[in-house]
Amino acid sequence: MNDGQLYSFQNWFKQHVSIFREVDPLHQRSLDMKEEHTFRVCTAIDHIASTLGLSANDIRIATVTALFHDIGRFPQYQKYRTFRDPDSDNHAKLSLWELNRHRVLHSLDLGERQIISRAIIFHNRLRLPETLDPQTLLHCRLIRDADKVDILRVMIEHFQGEESLRNPVISLGLGTETAVRDEVYRRLFEGKAMSYVSLKSTDELKVLQMSWVFDINFLPTLALLREQNAFGQLAATMPDTAMRNEALDFINDFIDRRLQNG
Ligand SMILES: [Fe+2]
Repeated sequence: MNDGQLYSFQNWFKQHVSIFREVDPLHQRSLDMKEEHTFRVCTAIDHIASTLGLSANDIRIATVTALFHDIGRFPQYQKYRTFRDPDSDNHAKLSLWELNRHRVLHSLDLGERQIISRAIIFHNRLRLPETLDPQTLLHCRLIRDADKVDILRVMIEHFQGEESLRNPVISLGLGTETAVRDEVYRRLFEGKAMSYVSLKSTDELKVLQMSWVFDINFLPTLALLREQNAFGQLAATMPDTAMRNEALDFINDFIDRRLQNG
């Protein structure tokens, strides 16, 4: 891929997103949020890939993956009025449909097109398949890290803001109650990323997002999250309980250990 191709993808993205423009400002706000998320994921992936010392071409592939990973969010919202996949459709699948329908990636060679397509289709899976080739695996890992960095930013800004101004689509329509069941914390202490199924409150969603730390692939991503104090800021939007503090300590210890061990 050359710089000209990357540039034309960026232009296509901006023009395509404008097709989904909404009359109602609340709906438009939901779409603006996804557009901004996309640009920020592009910035995060560029930072991670550059810090890792990847080639210029790998950085371009990663940037295009980031640019298109959530393009399916726009038709998803237009059709279903939600970003909740279980209530609508898998947005990663919708992203690929959208790209294929418009033959967006067809100017690329087959190898690069496949890497980007697979990285998009697997970006929101709980776990990656074990059979991926090294180049595909690299790009799957990059988009998953960069996406998590920015989803955490979105969540933090959302919950730091005034309750009446919050857009309910961000908290997936979950109630505002703050109760977190012990079993949700227990799963966090098992040190594994959790699934969205069976969440009962927005604060359980925050604990789920804290568990993402165990699924971060690259040290530059962990360093970025620590620098931003992402988990501390997210935890600060929850009631001050012993379990919350224990969970935050657990996460910070995990990050410190990984960064020390290199
Ligand atoms: Fe996504």
